[in-house]
Amino acid sequence: MRILSVVGARPQFIKLAAISRASDGRAEHVIVHTGQHYDDLMSDVFFRELRIPQPDVNLAIGSGTHGAQTGAMLAALEPVFEKYAPDWVLVYGDTNSTLAAAIAAVKLHLPVAHLEAGLRSFNRRMPEEHNRVLTDHASDLLLAPTETAMAHLSNEGLAGRSLLVGDVMTDVLYSVRDHIRSDPDGASLGLPLGSYYVATIHRPDNTDDAERLAGIVSALSELDRPVVLFAHPRIRAIAERFGIGLDRDGLRTMPPVPYQELISAVMGSAGVVTDSGGLQKEAFLLRVPTTTIRPETEWTETLDLGWNVLANEPRQIAAAVTRATPKPTTETPYGDGHAAEKTVSALLER
Ligand code: UD1
Repeated sequence: MRILSVVGARPQFIKLAAISRASDGRAEHVIVHTGQHYDDLMSDVFFRELRIPQPDVNLAIGSGTHGAQTGAMLAALEPVFEKYAPDWVLVYGDTNSTLAAAIAAVKLHLPVAHLEAGLRSFNRRMPEEHNRVLTDHASDLLLAPTETAMAHLSNEGLAGRSLLVGDVMTDVLYSVRDHIRSDPDGASLGLPLGSYYVATIHRPDNTDDAERLAGIVSALSELDRPVVLFAHPRIRAIAERFGIGLDRDGLRTMPPVPYQELISAVMGSAGVVTDSGGLQKEAFLLRVPTTTIRPETEWTETLDLGWNVLANEPRQIAAAVTRATPKPTTETPYGDGHAAEKTVSALLER
């Protein structure tokens, strides 16, 4: 059995780490990197740190408008798929790399499996929402992380192709968390526990309008504790263009950090403020209260259980961040940390 994984952006490398480990000795695993993310801190560092084998192919597509980037990937993937003729093409999440790989595979009549299928924000402004819906409908096997995702797939007539496997990010998070706990030198920021917040902001709806970005930055800089902002290249470049200073008052930027450092920083923090999907869920799994700067989230379980609160307007951020500590919970909506094994078994069985 030959499984060919297509990845390209940061969150996909984390999911790939789990699949790469789970397929070891069970299936041949070919890794194709589209090159959507290419900086060392956005890409290579994850392969080193999470001990993922080097990609068999790197298409080096790089950045671009949605159409240009997705189209370039689509064209470049076709000969790669023809060369490797995999039994399964496995695509991850909701980036432009996901959509390009799903379309390229389905056009060549190769079976496509979509990992993290069925997530919906119902916000058609989000590029990720287009990517998820189109990828789900193009795929042969929909590997869903949650019951909620299964329900969305069923509502769209896709129940027959869907399978609940759990969330592969949970697998990686648990193993990294345990490693950090076992290594007292693993703590990263050198700040006292609970004395700071961690923030990440990268979504176009938050970064691309000067007034909105300025409002978010100013809200973060005025919180009751210092805020460490791990700055994605997008926010850094745009803030500079708009003349918005990111290092001011309580706000300090750091470059994007490797996965273990990020998780360690979150574990030591008093809370997270983010617009990242993955980080909302990781913070929940670590039971760190989160405030999400978006009008909605795909990870609705984090809201239902009280560990995540939406604060789309900058003026709502301070109250959300300083809210009372959420009620403890033993719920496990994101699986038991064995989703990658279930995924590989599902591919082997079909
Ligand atoms: C992409 C995904 C998003 C995911 C995010 C994780 C899409 C539509 N979006 O968004 O779902 O949450 O990755 O980080 O696929 N850049 C660099 N170096 C890099 C990569 C990007 O400087 O290695 C800069 C470039 O200016 C680029 C911009 O960041 O234009 C945006 O990169 P892009 O891959 O288009 O989207 P992300 O915002 O990273």
